[in-house]
Amino acid sequence: MTGKMKLFENYSLKELNTFHIDVKAKRFIIVENVNELKELFNSSELSAVKFLTLGGGSNILFTKDIDDTIIHLSFNQLSELKSDDNFVYLKAEAGLIWDDLVKYSVEKNLGGIENLAMIPGTVGAAPIQNIGAYGQELKDTLVEVEFYDLIENKIRCLSNEQCQFGYRDSVFKNELKNKFIITSVTFRLSKNPVPVLNYGNVSNELSKSGIKNPTVKDVSNIIRKIRTEKLPDPDLIGNAGSFFKNPFVEEQILQQIRKKFPDVPSFNQENKIKIPAAWLIEKSGLKGFRKGNVGTYPNQPLVIVNYGNATGTEILEFAMFIQKTVLEKFNIQLEPEVNII
Ligand code: FAD
Ligand code: EPU
Repeated sequence: MTGKMKLFENYSLKELNTFHIDVKAKRFIIVENVNELKELFNSSELSAVKFLTLGGGSNILFTKDIDDTIIHLSFNQLSELKSDDNFVYLKAEAGLIWDDLVKYSVEKNLGGIENLAMIPGTVGAAPIQNIGAYGQELKDTLVEVEFYDLIENKIRCLSNEQCQFGYRDSVFKNELKNKFIITSVTFRLSKNPVPVLNYGNVSNELSKSGIKNPTVKDVSNIIRKIRTEKLPDPDLIGNAGSFFKNPFVEEQILQQIRKKFPDVPSFNQENKIKIPAAWLIEKSGLKGFRKGNVGTYPNQPLVIVNYGNATGTEILEFAMFIQKTVLEKFNIQLEPEVNII
């Protein structure tokens, strides 16, 4: 080990994952800048060791103690690279809390990520599943991703297009899986924001509050209100947001479901048909369903919650039970969004 890097052994991860699963990591290393990261992977000691990068732990389910090394990036600078008549380019380091970036942009009246308010976690994890909510996705404002390439042992950049973003998807979940550590992300935010109000009850909520021409701040406040009412606060009830992705289905499956449920909700996205997983779970009779310490959240059954001291295995078994029930009832296989370790 070189320099000032902070290394801890048998480190509890309970407060570092939003499910609050009580597991330990054999080694936990806090890396404070990109040079330290390079040093770490060039040191013979660590080059052969298996490791996992952990951000805010808000999209991860630990099912066992971690025998490998956990790397946590603490660098979190935000810098304005340039600005023209229409846009501001911001570079955010991986350890920055995502919602702090949203708050900064909202304060500056810059548009593009205000609907992504209150998503937990770090900037560095955000491109991996192309975070999205209420009609905006990361890919709408992302310019490039800088990452440490673990195969070539050097820093590389990928443009928006090279990231191959899709719904909860990117190159980082496919070709580059386990081959990268994201170190920073560059965004292009608009000086002439156009509010995105077409998702669910966003415009309803705005008119209820009497706002006519919403600013970036108004929109982000409405999103915060909706999320607070609908989603459990991980500080109070352990969860990792949506446990499953919304499934894409063939037209024929939708037609079959429609025979029994004429009002089945469906959406066209990326030229495919999406059915809300929350609806499938609810119609399987599992909304608010609870087994011991684990349950589906009564206001939003796509969120699996830890009501007490559930283990990761209990949560995983519960999730598998939901998958099995939905598969039997609708012939649709739900895929986890959460990373299961
Ligand atoms: P972690 O959970 O720490 O890690 C997630 C994955 O990324 C892991 O595989 C990890 O190894 C890897 N990783 C983390 N950082 C790096 C890095 N720097 N380099 C390489 N790999 C890395 N998501 C949405 O898209 N939309 C939502 O609306 C939304 N709402 C949520 C609401 C709640 C209450 C919760 C708890 C979660 C929600 N999520 C949502 C999921 C989650 O917040 C996002 O996926 C977030 O981007 C995860 O960030 P993190 O730093 O916590 O990642
Ligand atoms: N629905 C039900 N019953 C419910 C709740 C919802 O049937 O109890 C149906 C309704 O038809 C509703 C639809 O599900 O219209 C969609 O519900 P919601 O708007 O709550 O969104 P979601 O599809 O469940 C997705 C994301 C969330 C994101 C919201 C808002 C996924 C997997 N999840 O949830 O992201 O915040 O939209 O954009 O795409 C996350 O990824 O962790 C996450 C929380």
